[in-house]
Amino acid sequence: MDKVVIFDTTLRDGEQAAGASLNINEKLEIARQLEKLGVDVIEAGFPASSPGDFEAVQLVSREIRNPVICGLARAIANDIDKAAEALKDARHPRIHVFVSSSDIHIMHQLKKSKEEVLEMARNMVKRARGYVEDIEFSPMDASRSDPQYIYQMLEAVIDVGATTLNIPDTVGYSIPDEFGRLIAGIFKNVPNINKAKISVHCHNDLGLAVANSLAAIQNGARQVECTINGVGERAGNAALEEIVMILKTRSDLFNVTTNINTEQIYNTSRMVSELMGFPVQPNKAVVGGNAFRHQSGIHQDGVMKLSSTYEIMDPKTIGLPGSCLVMGKSSGRHAFKERLSELGYNPADTDIDRLFSSFKELADKKKEVTDRDIESLVAEDKRITIIAEAYKLDRIQVTCGDKGVPTAAVRLIKEDGTVIADAALGTGPVDAVYKSINRLVNVPNKLTEFTVKSITEGIDAIGEVLIRIESNGVTYTGRGADTDIIVACAKAYLNALNKLVSAN
Ligand code: KIV
Ligand code: ZN
Repeated sequence: MDKVVIFDTTLRDGEQAAGASLNINEKLEIARQLEKLGVDVIEAGFPASSPGDFEAVQLVSREIRNPVICGLARAIANDIDKAAEALKDARHPRIHVFVSSSDIHIMHQLKKSKEEVLEMARNMVKRARGYVEDIEFSPMDASRSDPQYIYQMLEAVIDVGATTLNIPDTVGYSIPDEFGRLIAGIFKNVPNINKAKISVHCHNDLGLAVANSLAAIQNGARQVECTINGVGERAGNAALEEIVMILKTRSDLFNVTTNINTEQIYNTSRMVSELMGFPVQPNKAVVGGNAFRHQSGIHQDGVMKLSSTYEIMDPKTIGLPGSCLVMGKSSGRHAFKERLSELGYNPADTDIDRLFSSFKELADKKKEVTDRDIESLVAEDKRITIIAEAYKLDRIQVTCGDKGVPTAAVRLIKEDGTVIADAALGTGPVDAVYKSINRLVNVPNKLTEFTVKSITEGIDAIGEVLIRIESNGVTYTGRGADTDIIVACAKAYLNALNKLVSAN
């Protein structure tokens, strides 16, 4: 069977999603998980776009050894030089050069002639090839471009050393049959095409990113660009987990394989959702909360008799734990560690100590601790270890009610151990808490999003708060979880503020 190369662009196109913001440690954490997942290529960022992106590509290049690490660059000399510099320490570096190929982009955005753009593509691929051997080239907005012009451009860049030719449906305009024909046309009309691999990069504006990618595979494409949970610019990119599971489940039709370790899909999806602050919709294919839940009595009856009556994939293949074990106060350290490992987490012993003490604290408040609670504990623990905590919540006390004036008193511990405390009045308890924290931290910002949800059912459930704050045009996402919703609000706000403080 032929292999389809999985090119993950969660850290580049995924991070372009409005409201997504990852700091450098979070990017590295995701890159490590992508390596575990077995992706072939990680597009770690766009080095010339910002110092933060440059540093992230540099760090991922140094730390991640197995996949190819790719940096994006416009067909501009400075972009190529920056990408090469950021990728200097990568074991397998790739520079991804792109330039628009559609008349609409060339005339109205680049304001150049088609000949000039062709020359830019040729010269910049040549320049990139002077730095590394692995060069990807993308004619942006390919699906709305004149195919003859694309053929000409692809032939020219292969001649100067491009090794992967990526065909983007940049604005998600194509439909599968049409996109498949575009790929077939490239194979037929580009004379030196056998020297390169064809890749595709589809956006989801009309909900067809995955379908278009599959049509391309059926027509010979052997690299797919995709993101975890389909995150990305506007309506997002093709979802990695969907493409991989379709190729696996319907291998009878596609006859291709991937290197993906599918059992890491569920954990990767949760990590990206958590760190980007984008919840996964319950009915999302493959990784949604309802994807393997059967509600109708007839379906439940069938699944109990033989799971394949209504299940086309075994949930274990994507790493979903088979049973939902409930733990409690009497569960010991060993059982807790076992459950963590069954859920796909293998923390170091020192981390287990911390996690186990949080588990015990939770089990004291909550009769039954479920897998979702444990996942939330792990996420909460990651939040406090992944970023330097300039401010840590020490104590919080709130008074509120329909007749009283909502009041909050908050005590924080600074990184150097200094204890600071203040109090404030607010329109409600959360407002009072945020005002108290503002008096202590004193970093101007605007709260742009605030969501509270319960992780499990039951009155004693853990509440999870997701917030976004904005400062100087940059968004910072914060999350916090606790059985006390006001404490969760304070944790989420401090999580976002700590990111803001460490970025400045
Ligand atoms: O959507 C697009 O065209 C892109 C390119 C940079 C490949 O993201
Ligand atoms: Zn894109």
